[in-house]
Amino acid sequence: MNIVVLVSGNGSNLQALIDAEKAGRYRGRVAAVVSDRAGVFALERAKNAGIPAFTEEPDKSLSKEARRLELSDRILRIAEARDAGLIVLAGFLSILRGNIINRYSGRIINLHPALLPKYGGEGMYGEKVHRAVLAAGESESGCTVHFVDEGTDTGPILIRRTVPVLDGDTAESLAERIHREEHAAIVDAVVTLTEKSRKS
Ligand code: GAR
Repeated sequence: MNIVVLVSGNGSNLQALIDAEKAGRYRGRVAAVVSDRAGVFALERAKNAGIPAFTEEPDKSLSKEARRLELSDRILRIAEARDAGLIVLAGFLSILRGNIINRYSGRIINLHPALLPKYGGEGMYGEKVHRAVLAAGESESGCTVHFVDEGTDTGPILIRRTVPVLDGDTAESLAERIHREEHAAIVDAVVTLTEKSRKS
């Protein structure tokens, strides 16, 4: 199965997928990586692994919703051109809209650095999530892999992994603990979905 991975930054979760693929953990291959930001390290990781990498930045001349739709359609075209059976948002910070959601229903997943449905939604990404968790005095946090639907961080949950919030945690220390779980969760999700498609 061809997999398209969407990224915006460091790409450590992309790296986890690349490493798992090399180790034969799932029957599929990352066929393309798309970043909505130029020059990010995730693109470097793709290049080092010999994976075609595309930079598709949002068109700032458009209004917010038009911008989301237009970028989503560009990504859909890339996914269809690669005959992708699965799209993985691995640290992707743009919000997808329009045809891609229906066309890839049940075959498009997002990784979120908290235990959804808590601490999700627009504006809740990266470090902001960890700061909110700490400010609320939560005793645990974690990560969630869920299917993408029309909402933001609202689709059906596939996997959640929990970590404790420790005394003296900072957003950075909590993020680091969660990152380790994310790498396992995103690989498990891809193993599950590539396996499922072989059976159906
Ligand atoms: C991850 O923690 C991921 O959960 C988060 O961005 C980070 C990317 O790390 N995604 C979101 O916040 C999406 N709402 P990475 O670039 O090292 O994979």
